[in-house]
Amino acid sequence: TGLTALDQGFVNTAATKSAITYIDGDAGILRYRGYAIEDLAANSTYLETAWLLIHGELPTAVELDHFEDTIRRHTLLHEDLRRFFDALPHNAHPMSVLSSAVGALGTFYQDSLDVHDPEQVEISTIRLLAKLPVIAAYAHKKSLGQAFLYPDNSLSFVDNFLKLNFGNMAEPYVVNPVLSRALERLLILHEDHEQNASTSTVRLVGSTEANIFSSISAGINALYGPLHGGANEAVLTMLKEIKDSGESVERFVERVKNKEDGIRLMGFGHRVYKNFDPRAKLVKESADEVLDALGVRDDLLDIAKELEEVALADDYFIERKLYPNVDFYTGVIYKAMGFPPRMFTVLFAIGRMPGWIAHWREMNEDPATRIGRPQQLYVGPTERAWPRR
Ligand code: CMC
Repeated sequence: TGLTALDQGFVNTAATKSAITYIDGDAGILRYRGYAIEDLAANSTYLETAWLLIHGELPTAVELDHFEDTIRRHTLLHEDLRRFFDALPHNAHPMSVLSSAVGALGTFYQDSLDVHDPEQVEISTIRLLAKLPVIAAYAHKKSLGQAFLYPDNSLSFVDNFLKLNFGNMAEPYVVNPVLSRALERLLILHEDHEQNASTSTVRLVGSTEANIFSSISAGINALYGPLHGGANEAVLTMLKEIKDSGESVERFVERVKNKEDGIRLMGFGHRVYKNFDPRAKLVKESADEVLDALGVRDDLLDIAKELEEVALADDYFIERKLYPNVDFYTGVIYKAMGFPPRMFTVLFAIGRMPGWIAHWREMNEDPATRIGRPQQLYVGPTERAWPRR
């Protein structure tokens, strides 16, 4: 028909206009609503940045207070949703649990399904931000065979989440400010990244006027894959395999370069960043700080640093402009905090939730939005005569 240009993987096609996040991949710049990621990571909180992404401006002190308080009052899961976890195997991957439970929120909040009612969109926003960390912590507790705790609304958002994961019924939970600030910072770094695969999924599903719970459940599934958010878990698996096998870092990098069994250096490379990923720079700083502050030593961090050094000096990686991305050092930090590798991508999902919501709302409010419907180039057989039988 002459209408379709092939752009496999959307390397060069904008699917939408957006005013949320600015990236300059060559200069290593990332800004949310105009604010540099470095400033936000140093000075803001997860919820303040969430408000910024969703509403376009930093909240006033009164707005932030009200936002935090409203979220605090929506953390409880319906008892039936708590029991939903009983039906799943204890060894379920928490990302599957997460997407299922978020999809299921749509069954509990059927009053929120009118996508064009701003009040309903607002209450769904609050419910998603408040309940995702609780769902995530229950997925973790379930895998450990431990009892679920109720949220503690005397704590901050991040401390509440940490307590739900690491607290138990037998002893009082003691807040660790080093851990809290480090996690807050990592969550901020993950909050948005414009039209990545999961956000594009959220927008595509949302463009059909599906509700926000179904749209974000789909986004969580897109994030699960090892080429996207699943890379943080895959990095740790890779580091552990190198350690356990005793293989040298140089030899492993050779195997990556030879594309042996299709292996990649996980946590390296990015579609957009071609000089460095500004998030990776901040995460690397955190890795040393957090491990020092927690008094943890980890051989895997040494292996990661050695891998980075060897790769960055190698023509294969230089020619292809492959640098560490946000996922390269996060796993080592999450591990030091006490999270099992299967929870790493879940932490990414909690981080990314505000971005998914902001994009869904921007898509939903934009009168120019049309149902997403890519074209294809058909390469199958031309018309064939039905064989006489
Ligand atoms: N290790 C080894 N080679 C690589 C890697 C890697 N991590 N990444 C890309 N390459 C090679 C690739 O084989 C190709 O080489 P050639 O030209 O010889 O065929 C070339 O570099 C271009 O790669 P590509 O796959 O066409 O690049 P892409 O933009 O389609 O993919 C990517 C981007 C992030 C999926 C990819 O770099 C990758 O698979 N990285 C590892 C997984 C990872 O860390 N993902 C997290 C991304 S950042 C956070 C997030 O979004 O979740």
